[in-house]
Amino acid sequence: MNEPVRNLKPPVLARIGDRVEDVGTPALLVDLDAFDHNLAQMQALADAGGVALRPHAKAHKSVAIAQRQIAAGAVGICCQKLSEAYPFAATGIASIHISNEFVGADKLAMAVELARYVDLSICVDDVRQVAAVAAAATAGGVRITALAEVDVGQGRCGVDSAEALIRLADAIGNAPSLRFGGLQAYHGGAQHLAHWTRRRDAARRAAEQAHDYVRLLHARGIACPVVTGGGSGTAEFDCESGVYTEIQPGSYVFLDGHYGASEWPGRFQPRQALFLSATVMSTARAGVAVCDAGLKSVAVDSGLPRLWSGPGSEWLRYVAANDEHGVLQVLDENNQALLGSKLWLVPGHCDPTANLHAQYVCCRNGRVAELWDIAARGLSR
Ligand SMILES: Cc1ncc(COP(=O)(O)O)c(C=O)c1O
Repeated sequence: MNEPVRNLKPPVLARIGDRVEDVGTPALLVDLDAFDHNLAQMQALADAGGVALRPHAKAHKSVAIAQRQIAAGAVGICCQKLSEAYPFAATGIASIHISNEFVGADKLAMAVELARYVDLSICVDDVRQVAAVAAAATAGGVRITALAEVDVGQGRCGVDSAEALIRLADAIGNAPSLRFGGLQAYHGGAQHLAHWTRRRDAARRAAEQAHDYVRLLHARGIACPVVTGGGSGTAEFDCESGVYTEIQPGSYVFLDGHYGASEWPGRFQPRQALFLSATVMSTARAGVAVCDAGLKSVAVDSGLPRLWSGPGSEWLRYVAANDEHGVLQVLDENNQALLGSKLWLVPGHCDPTANLHAQYVCCRNGRVAELWDIAARGLSR
């Protein structure tokens, strides 16, 4: 063994003022002009519909982005996991909704701790969960807002009957340490329908189902202050529905390959803001170029990344991702010339891609303008 070398670390990815082409790769790049456009358009959409915007932070996991969303008018944020909420709570974000169910002593302890610092709401779909959260909140001396999750077509979490919803609402209402916040009605499948009219119809059906549940509560004399749900794909329809009081889109700040391939003829016309930069590191084989961004830099659950710009973007196809290699098919004779070229890729799915990186390198006018930490990366408990 050698003596330890205390300060031996890889160089920083980028510095403010660097030229974009000099940023190390692989790197997650944010085009700030496109990001600002998306941020402002979604806020304007929510404002025009009289609906609160509570962006989903699972898409970006970045405090810097959440702060910008709140400065633009968002009422708070959503997190999908309790541990994910910690970096946001620690930096003073005051209102956090956990848009998910949780079970177990470790999770209850996190919920109680978070509720000491933030206005915390959570989702439940089982009376046993209500009893557990109520007991933990009582023991911890905190009050937590609980929303009943209803299934409006997603087929994931959420109760799917009137009886189950009434049981939940009554159980929450009878627990002194809990407050009944209303409903979460999220339909993920509707978000990703590429065709505008199909997406609109699916969103309308989900809103109608949510409306039926609201009417049921009202008929029982139970107030339903919040109906939250919706994502980037259906936000426009959810704002018009007259049912949702709050929307929780996440990916809208960035777009990704999946959302980028959708139709956006309406009032929300997002721009591609997130890119993965990569460098071609091998052209040894004819017809092939290999870049340095593979599975450890980009999630492929929603498809392989696509070339955005750069040399050869029309005649290069990303065809396979290995751990640290991205294999590109070169539909042109001259693959040799590509060695060292920088490529801009559009990740298929932004959320799990962001989770693979430590920082966003934010660019304007061809230069690095800001560096934002991805503080909640890996926080999946
Ligand atoms: C409960 C919930 N709300 C909101 C969102 C945000 O969706 P999107 O990133 O598609 O806008 C998601 C994403 O999966 C979700 O699960």
